[in-house]
Amino acid sequence: MTAVTVTRQDAIAIIAFGLPPVNSLGAVTRRELVAAFDELDVDPAVAAVVLMGVNGLFSAGADIKEFGSSGAVASPNLREVITILEGMTKPVIAAIEGACLGGGLELALGCHYRIALASAKLGLPEVKLGLMPGAGGTQRLPRLLGVEASLNLILSGEPVPAKALQGTPLLDAVVASDLLDAAVSLAAGKAEDLIKNPLPKASARVIREPNAEALFIFARNMIKAGFPNFPAPLKCIDAIEAATKGTFEEGLAVERRLFEELMAGSVSRALRHAFFAERAASKIPGINSALPKREIKLAGIVGAGTMGAGIAINFLNAGIPVVLVELNKESLDRGLFKIKDVYASQVKKGRLSQEAAAVKAQLLTPSLDFSSLASADLIIEAVFEDMTAKEQVFKRLDAVAKPGAILATNTSTLDVNKIAAFTNRPADVLGTHFFSPANVMKLLEVVRGTATSPSVLLTVMDLAKVLRKTAVVSGVCDGFIGNRMLEQYVRQALFMLDEGASPESIDAAAEQFGFAMGPFRVGDLAGNDIGWHIRKRRYIERPQTKYSQIADRLCELGRFGQKTNAGWYDYKPGDRTAYPAPAVAQLLIEYRLEKSLSPRSIGAAEIVDRLVFALVNEAAKILEEGIALRASDVDLVYLTGYGFPVWRGGPMRYADEVGLYAVVRRMRELGRSAYGDPDFWTPAPLLQRLADQGLMFNAPGVSL
Ligand SMILES: NC(=O)c1ccc[n+]([C@@H]2O[C@H](COP(=O)([O-])OP(=O)(O)OC[C@H]3O[C@@H](n4cnc5c(N)ncnc54)[C@H](O)[C@@H]3O)[C@@H](O)[C@H]2O)c1
Repeated sequence: MTAVTVTRQDAIAIIAFGLPPVNSLGAVTRRELVAAFDELDVDPAVAAVVLMGVNGLFSAGADIKEFGSSGAVASPNLREVITILEGMTKPVIAAIEGACLGGGLELALGCHYRIALASAKLGLPEVKLGLMPGAGGTQRLPRLLGVEASLNLILSGEPVPAKALQGTPLLDAVVASDLLDAAVSLAAGKAEDLIKNPLPKASARVIREPNAEALFIFARNMIKAGFPNFPAPLKCIDAIEAATKGTFEEGLAVERRLFEELMAGSVSRALRHAFFAERAASKIPGINSALPKREIKLAGIVGAGTMGAGIAINFLNAGIPVVLVELNKESLDRGLFKIKDVYASQVKKGRLSQEAAAVKAQLLTPSLDFSSLASADLIIEAVFEDMTAKEQVFKRLDAVAKPGAILATNTSTLDVNKIAAFTNRPADVLGTHFFSPANVMKLLEVVRGTATSPSVLLTVMDLAKVLRKTAVVSGVCDGFIGNRMLEQYVRQALFMLDEGASPESIDAAAEQFGFAMGPFRVGDLAGNDIGWHIRKRRYIERPQTKYSQIADRLCELGRFGQKTNAGWYDYKPGDRTAYPAPAVAQLLIEYRLEKSLSPRSIGAAEIVDRLVFALVNEAAKILEEGIALRASDVDLVYLTGYGFPVWRGGPMRYADEVGLYAVVRRMRELGRSAYGDPDFWTPAPLLQRLADQGLMFNAPGVSL
């Protein structure tokens, strides 16, 4: 056997199961478990069985690679395994340490007794992948833990420490150490007990909950209000309710039916896509991930503005000391204040202790002197977005940084290859494009220059995990992956204003689609002057690109957004609520008159098609140029950095779901009446090719 080992301690058999890394319950493990159960149940020398995982954990659950493939239904499935387990005639004791999640916990629920290390974590996280426990979890858990606690555990998907479950029928014992010894002696005791008491089975217990009805109503209302686009939580509630109403077998049948509906639904497929996208992103074709990486024990940051201060917090949180360098004392103090302010507010909200905040603060060394960066292993530049400023900084960094130090730029739009060429060590240079607020946003675009060495790239990809970022590799181009796509999205949004839409109607359509914020509310939050500044450069660099001028007019009025209390919307000081702005409505009327445009009404469906397909078409170009390594990387960028609805799985997966043929057809239709730029809707060659061949961006095996 490869996944199961059986050893004996006198009359107690110990089954240790699992394959690295997380003892997931794939087909091989399931088959071997059943073989062990069958053998031990009829072995007269065995009085009781202890079931435990290998490698310090019980099991992290089902093998999700099997989901949606034939592996999941390969007999025995997990439900069958657990039925066989629960039906054993000898006591089976689950000995739980480390993670005991999803199918792992369902397996433990099928045991007659459970003992856990206090530090073990138990949970049913299926809801996070748009699913529900599908191997009896929704039926056995409420029978052991009651309705309310089961709702909490299953709907949150969050694991809880064994200590918190001590004293409930879910755990017969919780121990601080020596789990196996404790499990073996519990097993011996229960084997003796067997003469007097039948084996307790979770499935045979009866739920007594006089307030069940009220609990279900409350849970449904909460879910409908908070998660309207996610079908799984409501189905979880339905299944738990079924556990309170019928027999165990009836409940199990309800659970199975609902589970299969969720598995086939688009939301779970999208969430699973996002999960795999995250795993895929750290793999870089052509680079061996086992290459030696550099050690990052000290970080340097140049510039303590909006981004520099936020980036510093990431390192401090990860326990990596930071030297923060500024031009003058005033700017340095401003940056330090920003960092202190973030920690003070976390302390105030009870998320961080005063002591922990002090420890982090001690890791920070402010400086006005570049030579203090001499021993840094990685230096991130976050100064003004201006090539001359970058040139000055990188020449100085080249002079002071130690050999082997990684030099990174946080530029959003400038050419990383040019920046690398300011140094005599372009192989050590790359882009680390953090998103604002840098201490909050998950996304980090790691920009690979033509000269960037593989070990530098891998070091930064690994570092991203330490900083708890989602890193996606991007090649060098104006805007990298995310902002290059965003430019087309914003161009369309502005064209639609010209044609007759309002900022409110466009934002409403985008938000109804599921974006966290529509394009105009985002503009007001980020500062409309940033886009203005970039457009002015593009007017010179790319005079052939057509833009609406309405956003420039807005900026000429000083309406930069929330920071000036006026942008596409009006704001009141200290209040982030966006109020419709009469001045903008007037500006639009005058602008359209001046351009002789007769406004028309644009429906929500057209707005969404134009915004999202603008993203998709540009992304197809980005993929074909090799700027993004794979379509799922593009999805990840939009899910983690741009508020794309996670339940749609990202723009490329959305396009796949619509069907690329239908996307291209719609683009041609939009192109026939295209205002602003007649070429805008010409499908990118890759998109056209995939559509013609009936393929998808994200289909496995599509080589780009
Ligand atoms: N603000 C954003 O949303 C955002 C997002 C992603 C990337 N970026 C990029 O990050 C970089 C920084 O942007 P920001 O918004 O933090 O700018 P900022 O204006 O808030 O801060 C820049 C800081 O750099 C300091 N500085 C300038 N020259 C310096 C030098 N030679 N040595 C030391 N310090 C110097 C300035 O005093 C200032 O405090 C830019 O390249 C920008 O494009 C910004």
